[in-house]
Amino acid sequence: MIKTSDLIWQDTQHQMLFKLIDEIKIEPFDREVLKKLQLYAEHHFSLEETYMKELNYPGIADHVRAHDRFREELRAMVDTQVSMNKVLQDSLSLFLFEWLRLHVLGIDKKLEDYILRSSSK
Ligand SMILES: [Fe+2]
Ligand SMILES: [Fe+2]
Repeated sequence: MIKTSDLIWQDTQHQMLFKLIDEIKIEPFDREVLKKLQLYAEHHFSLEETYMKELNYPGIADHVRAHDRFREELRAMVDTQVSMNKVLQDSLSLFLFEWLRLHVLGIDKKLEDYILRSSSK
């Protein structure tokens, strides 16, 4: 049974994702940060997807597609081992930050509202 208070996890996990994305900018670049981000993002996306399935959320296909795009971007960055410099670190961090910001404000917000409505029934 989903309770309203359960949604605290979503905010907390988003903050953690923003924190890891910010760490990409730190010099010298630590490739482990990308791996940590990849693991944590997977943990977070899986949890949202579990909620969507459990609630028969109508927007599940679009939402999972959006997560999959992020998964692919990150996988490509972790796998290609591109040599990094400060300019690349900053632009990668900005790109991921913007992606996450729009995702959280848009598609995740809709999911949050849906979870809240379902739990109040
Ligand atoms: Fe999210
Ligand atoms: Fe999401």
